[in-house]
Amino acid sequence: MTQDELKRKTAEAAIEYIKGVSIVGVGTGSTVNHFIDCLAENKSAIEGAVSSSEMTTERLKKLGIPVLDLNATGKLDVYVDGADEINPHKQLIKGGGGVLTREKIVAAASDKFICIADESKKVDVLGKFPLPIEVIPMAQSYVAREMVKLGGQPELRAGFTSDNGNPIIDVHNMDIINPLELEKTIKNIAGVVTVGIFAIHPADVVLIATEDEIITM
Ligand code: A5P
Repeated sequence: MTQDELKRKTAEAAIEYIKGVSIVGVGTGSTVNHFIDCLAENKSAIEGAVSSSEMTTERLKKLGIPVLDLNATGKLDVYVDGADEINPHKQLIKGGGGVLTREKIVAAASDKFICIADESKKVDVLGKFPLPIEVIPMAQSYVAREMVKLGGQPELRAGFTSDNGNPIIDVHNMDIINPLELEKTIKNIAGVVTVGIFAIHPADVVLIATEDEIITM
């Protein structure tokens, strides 16, 4: 099976979790794109979706799924999204696509976060994947210096601006032994909008597609 086929497989498995749900929170990325395609096949069963990015909004609309405003929907039952890394505690690194802020908002506003991934995303310790941090533009250099103090090697994501108009710093070589503490520490640096560690609110369920099966964590 190719990696793309594994992504489709985990996306199909997530459909089970939206049975009886009328408004679905939808993440962003190549795995979620498969989920959106599956959702479109079941669209008569839902009222609509809350989107985490411009890219997802475009795909949802193209497939005829109404996109709703989170301020109007209130709390969501389920949020489905991918991840860049997943540890055994269902803590994640996200933000490879640069939409970590909106993803964290929709995840926080949902009762259940279902994370879908192929097995390449499983790690013992988070941090091999460069840690994305969205920052206020004037704080870019300051936050980068603070990240050096924390042992990382920050790199500005060249030519990229988030959906919120902010730059992203990718921090290399972080050995994230305590994701919960590091998420809190980075969040407290002035100028940080969002850090791509999802440990304060980890995934509730992780569906990992392997060649033979879906592993539910
Ligand atoms: C988007 O900013 C990310 O958090 C994605 O959810 C993550 O990068 C997973 O993307 P893929 O499904 O494309 O690997």
